Amino acid sequence: MAELNHSASCRCRVCGAPIEAFMSFGRMPIANGFLAASEIPSEYFFELAPAFCGHCGMFQIVEQPRPEKMFHAEYAFYSSTSRYMQLHFEKFALGVLEGVLKDRRDPFVVELGSNDGIMLRHFAAGGIRHLGVEPSANVAAAARARGVRTVSRFFDETAAREIRAEDGPADALLGANVMCHIPYIHSVFAGANTLLTPRGVLIFEDPYLGDIVEKTAYDQIYDEHAFYFSCASISALALRHELEVIDVLPQPVHGGSMRYVLARAGAYPVAEAVQRLRASEEALGLERPETYDRLRANVARSREELRALLLDLKRQGRRVVGYAATSKSTTVTNYCGITPDLVEFISDTTPLKQGKFSPGTHIPVRPHEDFAARYPDYALLFGWNHGEEIMAKERAFTGAGGKWIVYVPKVQVLG
Ligand code: SAH
Ligand code: TMP
Ligand code: ZN
Repeated sequence: MAELNHSASCRCRVCGAPIEAFMSFGRMPIANGFLAASEIPSEYFFELAPAFCGHCGMFQIVEQPRPEKMFHAEYAFYSSTSRYMQLHFEKFALGVLEGVLKDRRDPFVVELGSNDGIMLRHFAAGGIRHLGVEPSANVAAAARARGVRTVSRFFDETAAREIRAEDGPADALLGANVMCHIPYIHSVFAGANTLLTPRGVLIFEDPYLGDIVEKTAYDQIYDEHAFYFSCASISALALRHELEVIDVLPQPVHGGSMRYVLARAGAYPVAEAVQRLRASEEALGLERPETYDRLRANVARSREELRALLLDLKRQGRRVVGYAATSKSTTVTNYCGITPDLVEFISDTTPLKQGKFSPGTHIPVRPHEDFAARYPDYALLFGWNHGEEIMAKERAFTGAGGKWIVYVPKVQVLG
């Protein structure tokens, strides 16, 4: 395992208590920082080290690159690449429209991290007043092109105040896979407080700490994710902003996510599911430091097993290709030392990533056509969170004798 850098200690971003990393993944590049060959010499690295705050229960990474290094006009992640996620966000939007917004007159919906408009387009199509707040200019432009009203800026308390002054208060503030990205989370929660109507709701979903621990899904840990939430940590945070968690809904996306519904304290009854989830978190030991010692050991074991498998296949002269150049794959390839001698290339459908090299390990990224033209013996499924969708459409690969390698929840060969 990479040596733990003992300077990897600081203060909890939520409660200010001193925290210390319980392990280190070592030197890491920007997860979505796919590079041209000419950019390799000046590649940026930081130390990726997770910590658990025993005081308020917030799991977080100690060091995070500046947001501008990750979210900019060449942000490589377009939400709508996944058909499955398109359906997921359609259901999310309909749930909000038919739930909290049902009886509101002329409701106003704001989404932070609205990306290419994957969710807001359903509000736009229904003629609902909406606004996307999306700092990555390229994906914001893609949203505008499909009729989704979008401003290109970072959401925080100032943005909330300005939006309220211009458009009035919001009935719903939504976010998916964005709240956990924002280190200045107090400003976002204060912004929610500023922006929402008295009965307004804040609904967001992010990868769930319980799933990460249970499945050893350590590849959820990368630069963009400052935080890894649980119901306990979100409840503690909400309390500081006169908000409370009124419902929780587990989601089968991104390897296991949790949707949290928050409102002003006392405005709504609290669903039973909230207490149930708190109890299950206690049973899982999410608030106990020993849990993270176990996670560290499981992560190290997973790395040894994956490396042993790939080295063995190399000795046998098998061709291994990576499938989907996901942000998560950056943690796996860098932590496990997976370089082009072990994985020939990574197949990915995103034009912006094709022809480039994977961050840190510099594996070539090639279009899916290269995968289909000459199937490898093994495909290393970096997009395991889209596994169902991918395996269903790649039946010809397994039909031709190809096998899948997965590593969450454990390293195994399928097919
Ligand atoms: N909601 C989409 C996109 C998630 S990726 C989905 O689930 O697929 C995270 C997005 O949040 C990126 O598009 C990034 O540009 C945006 N983002 C990062 N920091 C932000 C902030 N402070 N306010 C609003 N959006 C932010
Ligand atoms: P993410 O896990 O960071 O969301 O990234 C998903 C990546 O996976 C994105 O670059 C597109 C790629 N992908 C494929 O190449 N083929 C697929 O079938 C799917 C679903 C995703
Ligand atoms: Zn804390």
